[in-house]
Amino acid sequence: MEKKKLYIQTFGCQMNVQDSEKMAALLEGSGYESTDDSGLADLIILNTCSIREKAAQKIYSQLGRFQALKAQKPQLIIGVGGCLAQQWGERFFRRAPSLDLVFGTHQIHRLPEMVGDLERKGERKVETDLCDRVCSLELPAQPPSGAISSFVTIMQGCNNFCAYCVVPYLRGREESRPLPEIVGEVEMLTRRGIREVTLLGQNVNSYGQTRSDGRDFADLICTLGGIAGIERIRFTTSHPKDLSPRLIGCFGKVAPLCEHIHLPVQSGSDRVLGLMNRGYTAGMYLEKVAALRKACPGISITSDVIVGFPGEEESDFEATLALMREVRFDNLFSFQYSVREGTAAASMDQKVSSAVKRERLQILQELQAVHTLENNRACIGRMESVLVEGPSKKESTEMTGRTRGNRIVNFEGKRDRIGKTMFVRITEAFPHSLHGEMEEKGAADVH
Ligand code: SAH
Ligand code: SF4
Ligand code: F3S
Repeated sequence: MEKKKLYIQTFGCQMNVQDSEKMAALLEGSGYESTDDSGLADLIILNTCSIREKAAQKIYSQLGRFQALKAQKPQLIIGVGGCLAQQWGERFFRRAPSLDLVFGTHQIHRLPEMVGDLERKGERKVETDLCDRVCSLELPAQPPSGAISSFVTIMQGCNNFCAYCVVPYLRGREESRPLPEIVGEVEMLTRRGIREVTLLGQNVNSYGQTRSDGRDFADLICTLGGIAGIERIRFTTSHPKDLSPRLIGCFGKVAPLCEHIHLPVQSGSDRVLGLMNRGYTAGMYLEKVAALRKACPGISITSDVIVGFPGEEESDFEATLALMREVRFDNLFSFQYSVREGTAAASMDQKVSSAVKRERLQILQELQAVHTLENNRACIGRMESVLVEGPSKKESTEMTGRTRGNRIVNFEGKRDRIGKTMFVRITEAFPHSLHGEMEEKGAADVH
């Protein structure tokens, strides 16, 4: 029998990318096969994000296009999952009258059953309960065949309730996976050719706090570091308040742990950090940065910043710039504050105007561009080990890969190097990448 066609479009963070892979695997087990042409699909799923209003707008307009498709093909099933679906629930049907299915972030494992019901009875469904135990958490990663890197979800949810953030309301309470289950998954991935894993959670530093086996994130890193075949370990995202000395001590000691940390600071002003409910001051953040650099000289540090949080004054913004000048981040993701329904900040006064937010973002991004280029230039002349990911996008004769510090490097090389770790001498630096020459001596034996 010919298989029905499934088209999934993913918005938002890596957590959603992982969830989409799990959805595809589940539905492939019940008569569907994936297609990358939405026009051929029998079932379209949008895996959605609600982190900022812009993200939500993009999804509504895409849903509009799919509804137009359904007007010509009435048997087409359209479902929305993920964070925006969790947030809107039943209300989604008002926005999108021809939508068939709304399922929340804890209902992924029930997708085949829900789709089956729809096919048989044609009834619209809304399933957005949040559970104490998230069943889909134990579904293993499903990287595409031939991949050399994979994400591995180690926990779900968030208990931090930063005042601006909608995630704790949409992903539920924090829950960590048992350590042996994660180890088993990483071992399985190495058998499939994976060399690099990125451990995924909203706040990986608090891994294990919801379990009673006494194993924390540093224990997890040390255990995974001993698995043969794993050459690189990364993780995201770290909350500064939970970055422990033991974890800092893993850098430089656990061989596969890459010399890079994404440590979102959000603001350099103690007053704003307090309003944001972040649980640290700028001084405490700087102390953690100093400890990281002491344990692991040359470590790459990247971060996230929000401009225009309610009540942010010029002097608060100046404090953020001052912190940036002090740390000199290797890269920075910066956002204008966006009001999210139901969060603490949504009801705070003294909203900052769009014009001021735009202006502050531009100033901040210009400063960061200087720091990024300066740090990239400092790499010139260095020998870096580069895990080769594939052909470069621009030059057909070039390969592309990443340093352990997570910088993109392009270099002249053949396709048979894909999946290998090569020594590359850095010769040029650009705003978003490096250029280098491969050492013909062969692959770097890192492990
Ligand atoms: N759990 C991670 C990632 C959260 S979302 C963490 O704690 O860092 C990624 C980034 O989006 C956040 O770090 C923050 O900088 C930004 N963000 C979250 N909510 C936002 C909002 N309402 N407006 C603007 N940016 C926001
Ligand atoms: Fe959101 Fe804060 Fe949780 Fe990150 S730690 S997901 S920013 S509430
Ligand atoms: Fe977006 Fe949800 Fe991730 S709001 S950023 S998809 S956790």
